[in-house]
Amino acid sequence: MPTIIHIQETTSTNDYLQQKIKNELLEEGSVVVCDFQTQGRGAANNKWESEKNKNLLFSMLLYPDFVEIKKQFIISQVVSLGLVDYLNTITSGFTVKWPNDIYWQDKKIAGILIENNLRNNFLSESIIGIGLNINQMKFLSDAPNPVSLKNIMGFDYDLGIVLTDVQKSIFARYLQLLQGGTSRIQKDYKKAMYRNEGFYLYEDKNGVFLAKIHQVKEEGFLVLETENKEKRQYAFKEVLFKIL
Ligand code: BTN
Repeated sequence: MPTIIHIQETTSTNDYLQQKIKNELLEEGSVVVCDFQTQGRGAANNKWESEKNKNLLFSMLLYPDFVEIKKQFIISQVVSLGLVDYLNTITSGFTVKWPNDIYWQDKKIAGILIENNLRNNFLSESIIGIGLNINQMKFLSDAPNPVSLKNIMGFDYDLGIVLTDVQKSIFARYLQLLQGGTSRIQKDYKKAMYRNEGFYLYEDKNGVFLAKIHQVKEEGFLVLETENKEKRQYAFKEVLFKIL
C-alpha cells in the first residue's frame, strides 16, 4: 500500500504535498496527514476548522494523467464515492452533496478540496485534500451545519485506522476508474447524491424555487428540473441548496 506521511503541523496538507512532490517521487495513493493546520483551506476561499488531533486532515496524491482537463469532475466523483462507500459501512445516511461535500442526513461531515496540476490538455498530479470530522464534538466557526462521526455514533474513533480504511476505499474507486469504470462511477455518484430523489428548495440569483435533481453532467454541471419541467443548469456556487 502507498505511504502515509504523518506530520504534526503545517499550513495546509495540500500545500505541504504540493511542495513535497517538487523534489520527491511519491507512489500514487500516498497520503500526507497532520494533527493541525494553521491555514486549512476550504472551497471558495473558506477556512477549514479543525480542533488539534480530533479529526482527519489529509491530502492524497494521484497521477490521473489519462483524464482530460474538461473531464476532471470524475476525480471529484471518485473521491466522494470512496468516502461515502467507507462511511456507509459504519452507519447509513451518508450522501454526496453536489459537487463534493459529504453529508450525513442534513449535516456536513467532510469537505474535499482538489487541486490539479495540468500538462497539455490533461491532468498530471491531483492533490486531494480531505477534512473528515471524526472526534470533535463542538464546532466554533460559522460553518452552517457541521457534524462528526462521534456526534453521530457517540464514541471516539482511532484516526489511524479510519485513515487507512478511507485511503483504501478511495483507491478502490480510483482503480475502478483506471479499469474503464467511468459510467458505473457516474451512475453510483447519482445514486449516492444528497436529495437524489424528490423536490426540494434551491436558490439561484433569481430567487428560491422548488426543483428536483435531474442529472449531473460530465463537466460537473448540476441540472435541476422545476415542477413545470423546466431544466436549469448550474456551475459550482451558482445555486444554493436551501436546508431548513
Ligand atoms: C470544503 O470547503 O468543503 C473543503 C475542505 C477541505 C479541507 C481539507 S483539510 C486537508 C486539506 N488541506 C486543506 O487546507 N484543505 C483540505
